[in-house]
Amino acid sequence: MRLSRTDTVALRSIQINDLRCILHAQLEFSGQITLIHGANGSGKSSLLEGIYLLGRGRSFRTTHLGTAIRRGAQLLRVVGSVTSEAGRSFAVGVEGRSRQTTARIAGEPASSLAALSTAFPVQIIEPGVHKLIDEGPVRRRRYLDWGVFHVEQPFLAHWQRFHRAVKQRNAALRAQADDSELDAWDLEFTVAGEAVSRARQAYLDEIRPFIVGAAARLLGEPVDLAYSPGWPPGQALAAALGEGRPRDRRRKTTLLGPHRADLVVQSAHSLAREVVSRGQQKLLASALVLGQLGYHAERFDMRPTLLLDDPAAELDSHRLQLLIDEVSRLQAQVIMTALRPEKALLGAPDQVFHVEHGGVTRV
Ligand SMILES: Nc1ncnc2c1ncn2[C@@H]1O[C@H](COP(=O)(O)OP(=O)(O)O)[C@@H](O)[C@H]1O
Ligand SMILES: [Mg+2]
Repeated sequence: MRLSRTDTVALRSIQINDLRCILHAQLEFSGQITLIHGANGSGKSSLLEGIYLLGRGRSFRTTHLGTAIRRGAQLLRVVGSVTSEAGRSFAVGVEGRSRQTTARIAGEPASSLAALSTAFPVQIIEPGVHKLIDEGPVRRRRYLDWGVFHVEQPFLAHWQRFHRAVKQRNAALRAQADDSELDAWDLEFTVAGEAVSRARQAYLDEIRPFIVGAAARLLGEPVDLAYSPGWPPGQALAAALGEGRPRDRRRKTTLLGPHRADLVVQSAHSLAREVVSRGQQKLLASALVLGQLGYHAERFDMRPTLLLDDPAAELDSHRLQLLIDEVSRLQAQVIMTALRPEKALLGAPDQVFHVEHGGVTRV
């Protein structure tokens, strides 16, 4: 299937400075499909890392952004020109230093890095995407929260308020605060936490059929998704917190609540994380990502930019084709990497870049 050329290109251009092997790179995107090719170690993933950073304020490769700063440089900088879903163009910028990441959106300092999610929505399928399935719940919570940020405006405020409450309650536990002070934090925690939990649950119910559909096409088997809220089912959060307080006091941290939630993914016969093949895990994780994007496209006409880093990794040619077909359905901006210019994958790309030793040239 060919993608339409007239739809909005969410990311118009990007400048990347001092990110890994990239001293300076500038890329312009005028059409929806971009191919970046080059040898191993040339800097393809680093370019996608820069684009991802612009929409997420974090790397998909490391939790310590300091390691992504080019050796010898003090900071890395990424600036992009993006077009919002309403059709407005503005600049987004992210600066990473060894201990601090800051962002600017349309000329103003961003209130938090989470605000980037709505300024420049971006998703990625990369060789580590299986971690969404086989690692701990952090990535799955982030996956859900990113989606809710994107479709439900007030969620960001609830989410920020809840995470402040978790920090403050934990600080009070460490300081062995008296019960009346903890009562106050419990109230704040409960009000914001229930809002976060309800929004995640409602969102999961909306996206579930899209993920089930994507999984059926990609894997040929049913999947089941359940939200595990992070405290005992059937109990009110306030009651669970009250009951858990003596244990929290001993451990000096809050052991239950929406910050401990999980998205439980089950495939046909087993818990998904026990599925053996890496290729199957990649397809299942891709079903989560693409199903989510399919929902945003169909219900809200929202089309986040999709990055595909080395999509052929771990997949045979049949499964790679299934993945590419699924990507084509989205009609979104796609920026993909490959060792060689494999033009057949998504039809002829609108622009092709070649990377060599961190230097980018338009082909
Ligand atoms: N902090 C850094 N400073 C300079 N170079 C780095 C840094 N981190 C990684 N590199 C180098 O940058 C290159 C990154 O390549 P990468 O983007 O992974 O390439 P590709 O995806 O094309 O295989 C590698 O050669 C790596 O050694
Ligand atoms: Mg790479």
